[in-house]
Amino acid sequence: MAPPQHSSKAAILQATREEALQGGGQERLEQQHSRGKLTARERLNLFLDKDSFTELDMFVRHRARDFGMDDNRPLGDGVVTGYGTVDGRQVFVFSHDFTVFGGSLSETFAKKICKVMDLALKVGAPVVGFNDSGGARIQEGVVSLGGYADIFLRNTLASGVVPQLSLILGPCAGGAVYSPAITDFIIMAKGTSHMFVTGPNVVKTVTHEDVSFEELGGADPHATKSGVAHFACENEVEAIQYARQLLGYLPQNNLESPPQIATDDPPDREEEALDSLVPENPNKPYDMHHVINAVADNKAFFEVQSGYATNLIVGFARIGGRSVGIVANQPSHLAGVLDIDSSVKGGRFVRCCDAFNIPLVTFVDVPGFLPGTDQEWRGIIRHGAKLLYAYCEATVPKVTVITRKAYGGAYDVMSSKHIRGDVNLAWPSAEIAVMGPKGAVEILWKKDIQKTEDPEILTGKLSQEYREKFANPYIAAERGFIDDIILPRHTRNRLIDALIMLETKVDTNPRKKHGNIPL
Ligand code: HXC
Repeated sequence: MAPPQHSSKAAILQATREEALQGGGQERLEQQHSRGKLTARERLNLFLDKDSFTELDMFVRHRARDFGMDDNRPLGDGVVTGYGTVDGRQVFVFSHDFTVFGGSLSETFAKKICKVMDLALKVGAPVVGFNDSGGARIQEGVVSLGGYADIFLRNTLASGVVPQLSLILGPCAGGAVYSPAITDFIIMAKGTSHMFVTGPNVVKTVTHEDVSFEELGGADPHATKSGVAHFACENEVEAIQYARQLLGYLPQNNLESPPQIATDDPPDREEEALDSLVPENPNKPYDMHHVINAVADNKAFFEVQSGYATNLIVGFARIGGRSVGIVANQPSHLAGVLDIDSSVKGGRFVRCCDAFNIPLVTFVDVPGFLPGTDQEWRGIIRHGAKLLYAYCEATVPKVTVITRKAYGGAYDVMSSKHIRGDVNLAWPSAEIAVMGPKGAVEILWKKDIQKTEDPEILTGKLSQEYREKFANPYIAAERGFIDDIILPRHTRNRLIDALIMLETKVDTNPRKKHGNIPL
């Protein structure tokens, strides 16, 4: 039996731990549940593998003295931090505890987060944050603002080194939004999470708009209008599952490859339906998801930003067990045209894949960039350049499949051979040209069309001739800009073949401090 003195020390330790586990107390924990939210610890329990969590800094207390704060110094200070595993892989976590001062961020709260971020960077493992906070702890003033800045700096230094995921599971307002904004992915839960720089009251005062929390900064507007959120989940549990799944596609850090998962889906599985997917009429849409699903292992596609800029599809899949980033024009929305939002969405995704050694598979059916004053005046030139820049600088394996249109500058942008596409394939239905037949004919034969009695007949005839001459993949293949023309049903097999061939690819960019991407 242990001596009495020891057992009393153990009892103190045990009692102190139990006190820390109480967070802001039973009443506030119940209040958290009544709002449809889980507690900070429940979230971690759901997220991490069973019994894998090691907590750090449970005994930290804040140092504030003003506003009666010295009488209220809860253990842990409103954030639960530590490390554990997801599917056996290490991950560092912090989880705001809304039951303690509304999860507001103090000096010591920030130090706890910085500690796990520093460890994650040294160890080379992802950081996942569960955000549910009233923002800067008002009683601490500038010290709290400094704490945020310490986190922003670490977010930035860790960017492209270890994956960073942000789950927004409660309020996230003011400057606090900028930590999640710097991270790689933002996952929100409908109804309970809100992100905004200024809330509905300030909006009302400044712009006289009446807007609710949900309309202004809920999961839906951020997943469809602003593009801030990558995922809008039905609830917290789904959000946490998404975060686990997402990590499965990513490596632990920028020096590693993403995990390979053995698949029983045969590499030579042929999808006959693809042969008739592209309609005879080049102006008719089809859903590019069919192509993506057909080539992915077990037809599983983990789409990112599925409700935003839907003319471009981005997301993760495994092809032959290898994690890949898919980028695809979507002909069934705005004919798959590239506009500002889709260019920015694609550019960021391409850079994320490149940073984390995830090969890029690009499916092309793009009529060009979207015309109009709205797009031009809002800067389609510099925003479109982001996607171009991202593809140009990417050194990961790049495999491209042109299914139908690859017109104009958009042909170059969408991972063409000229910007270091490694394997560029085309379906027989591919049309690679400076522009579509109608536009070309109207420019080249303008005078003849003006003179003729029936311009429609002449335009139709010339368009047909143009299509036969230019709107096919053979001229590009003749030049070697396309490595091969393949039957659609063989696409999966050819992608796997290309990805295996490229597995040991090494390519580099000139040494520089950093490039100057047109932001
Ligand atoms: C200290 C805070 C707090 C804060 C909430 N609390 N926010 N304490 N600092 N920032 C406390 C409340 O006093 C309350 O304590 C408890 O948390 C729960 O808050 P409630 O208001 O009762 O909850 P709810 O009705 O759900 O409203 C949540 C809320 C609201 C929307 C987050 O509390 C709120 O608007 N808080 C202020 C948000 C804000 O303006 N923060 C500063 C943003 S600027 P008791 O003891 O009563 O339970 C910012 C700058 C960051 O963050 C800059 C980075 C560069």
